This record gives sequence, structure tokens and C-alpha cells, in this order.
Amino acid sequence: MTGKLVIIGVGPGDPELLTVKAARHIASAPIIAYFCAANSAGRAYMTAKAYIAPDAHLLQFVYPFTTGVAVTDARYMREIREFYDHCAREMAVHLDEGRDVTLLCEGDPFLYGSAMYLHDRLSERFESEIVPGVTGMSGCWSAARLPMVHGDDILTVLPCTLSEARLRQLTQAGDAFVFMKLGRNMPKLRRVLTALGLAASAIYVEHGSRPQQRIVPFPEAPERAPYFSMVLLPGRKRVR
Ligand SMILES: C[S@@+](CC[C@H](N)C(=O)[O-])C[C@H]1O[C@@H](n2cnc3c(N)ncnc32)[C@H](O)[C@@H]1O
Repeated sequence: MTGKLVIIGVGPGDPELLTVKAARHIASAPIIAYFCAANSAGRAYMTAKAYIAPDAHLLQFVYPFTTGVAVTDARYMREIREFYDHCAREMAVHLDEGRDVTLLCEGDPFLYGSAMYLHDRLSERFESEIVPGVTGMSGCWSAARLPMVHGDDILTVLPCTLSEARLRQLTQAGDAFVFMKLGRNMPKLRRVLTALGLAASAIYVEHGSRPQQRIVPFPEAPERAPYFSMVLLPGRKRVR
């Protein structure tokens, strides 16, 4: 019998925001897999660390790059595909031999989570289970004490890897916005929000729910944001 692939959302970063179900799964997991950047312990791993059994076998997958290569670069698609293929092969070795593999993922796995790419590659061959997580955006707007949408407000979630023209176009429709994947895209977002007269209403959140969390009005945000940062633009335009 083959093993089961368990994909767990560990939430926005505060270990207390990991669900009871996630904690239970992690504590009994014989093999824990997680992604991390080079020279980093891995954010999902650090969030879940207190719950991982001391004798669990760790599978660490180091990204070939994070924000260093643009998604529009041909190298990005080629190398990232090879990387996920490699991770899937490593995990399949254990699954084929009947061992369950638990893959940790920041926030919720199916909201821009890298875990999805392994789910794509493995879920037809192996039984799988997904444990949802508190999303990074809900961790951030709660940390910022920022009510986001009410009534019939429309919430739009935009990755800032989109082109400037597309970002600008989409930011003109809808009421409330979450801008994710900032990093090197911060100057682009600044131009868009400034041109639309929205910069003063936006809030920048870096490492939301972690001890190093930083929350400032968007005009005070750094020019180059870290990977774990986002900008929130609340709706609530027709408050009752
Ligand atoms: C690849 S996506 C993963 C999203 C994740 N699956 C989720 O549910 O939030 C990574 C992006 O999520 C955002 N993010 C996730 N958690 C965050 C946090 N705690 N603080 C700030 N940004 C966060 C950042 O915009 C980052 O670039």
C-alpha cells in the first residue's frame, strides 16, 4: 500500500494561528517536507517547528531562487519546473514505499501556495488530504486591525507580478484590494497607487503575525519589500 500525501496550511506565521487539526497532523507525521529559500530555515517549518515530533524525518526543498529571477524570465519557468519535478520525485520515493509525507505550506495551501505544484504532480498517483490554513492576508488585516470588506464590497486579490498596465486596470474595478508578492515589484505598485490617488489609503504589512511584524501607512513603506509583505487597501465604501 502506498503512503498518503498530507498538505498542511500552517497559517500566516504566528504558531498560535495554526489550526488544531494542523497541529494534530504535524505532531504525528513521520516525514515532514517543506520549502525554503537558500540560507533560510524555512518559514513554514519555523511556524510548525514546535509541533513537529523530535524523531520526524525532514525533507527540505531549497528553492533555486525566490524574488531574484522575474516570473517573466524564461529561466524562471524552466528551473522552477525542474525544481518541483525533483521535489515530487523525492516525495514519491517515500509514498511508494508506504510512508505518509506531510508537506507544510505558509498560509492556506491552495491560495498561491507552492504546495499546489506538488499536489498537481502527485495527487493522481497517491491518496491526498488537504488541511486548510489561515491565509496570510487574514493574518495581516487582523494584525493591522483593518476591517476590509462588508456588505456587497468586492475584494480583489492581486499578485504584483502582473504587468503595471494590468495592475492599474484591475485596481480601478472593485472596492478592496490585497496586493501580494511585492519584493522587487514595490516601485511598480507605488506608481499604480499614486497615479490612482489611492496611496494614502493603503497599509503596508511586513511579516504579518510574526514577532518582526511591521505595519505602516503605504507612503512610508520601503522601496524594496521583503518576500513576506503585502499591501492592503480596505473597502467599506458604503458603511452602514
Ligand atoms: C506564494 S504566496 C503564498 C500565500 C499563502 N499560501 C497564503 O495563504 O497567504 C506568498 C505571498 O503571500 C503573502 N504573505 C503570506 N503570508 C504573509 C505574512 N504573514 N505577512 C505578509 N505577507 C504574507 C506575501 O505577499 C507573499 O509574497
